[in-house]
Amino acid sequence: MAKTPSGKTSGRGQRDLRVRVKTAKGRKLSSTLWLERQLNDPYVQRARKEGYRGRAAYKILELDDKFRFLVPGARVVDLGCAPGGWCQVAVERVNALGQKSGKKVGTVLGVDLQEVEPIAGAEIHQLDFLSDDADEKVKEWLGGKADVVMSDMAAASSGHKGTDHLRIVALCEAAAYFAFDVLEEGGTFVAKVLAGGAENELQALLKRAFTKVANVKPPASRADSSEKFVVATGFRGVPEEDAADDSVSGLL
Ligand SMILES: C[S@@+](CC[C@H](N)C(=O)[O-])C[C@H]1O[C@@H](n2cnc3c(N)ncnc32)[C@H](O)[C@@H]1O
Repeated sequence: MAKTPSGKTSGRGQRDLRVRVKTAKGRKLSSTLWLERQLNDPYVQRARKEGYRGRAAYKILELDDKFRFLVPGARVVDLGCAPGGWCQVAVERVNALGQKSGKKVGTVLGVDLQEVEPIAGAEIHQLDFLSDDADEKVKEWLGGKADVVMSDMAAASSGHKGTDHLRIVALCEAAAYFAFDVLEEGGTFVAKVLAGGAENELQALLKRAFTKVANVKPPASRADSSEKFVVATGFRGVPEEDAADDSVSGLL
């Protein structure tokens, strides 16, 4: 019998528990490695077991465990929501299906460039949030302003790290301006960014518009990824100097 690192005996050695994927004709090494990582990822396995559409669901669960913005009754906008893990979590937490008796019933509205399989309790629209009037449409669908705007969006990878970094910061800045248009006073903005240096302006912008800005890497975010999340709480309104800034649009 093999011994685990803690000294306990087990039927199989720890190393043997990892699923190995053999290279196959016609499959690139990068695809084989991706498949192997997916099969061995505990969050992937947990998502399958718990019915979430992807491991990303645990990132918003962990962020909400820490900051508690998905409260029953909250109106939530999820930008770039496909395949829908974040929406699933939001539906449960804001009580969008009214299953928590005696608690307020919330609303979840997701938008994405791609089509999304329906999610019970969420309203989903195929929409580029950068398109003209996207903010007006969202407010119309929502029937008013939102308490939470969250974004897990990523721009399509160019293969060049520096370019990708600038693009995701630009996307995040655009999401922040979108949030300024649809958030209720006191609201929360959550967005994915990549650590890498170009995000200082974004941080400064958020600090002017919100009472608190935190940068967090939830445990579900892979340690080898430079992704992190900003959680900005207590929306104060758009600072005047930022009201008409559209300098990010050229990067997208
Ligand atoms: C990482 S996925 C989101 C995963 C999601 N949080 C979940 O839990 O399933 C990022 C999504 O952002 C979307 N996206 C990127 N740019 C967008 C845009 N301009 N408007 C709407 N969606 C966008 C992509 O289509 C993609 O589906």
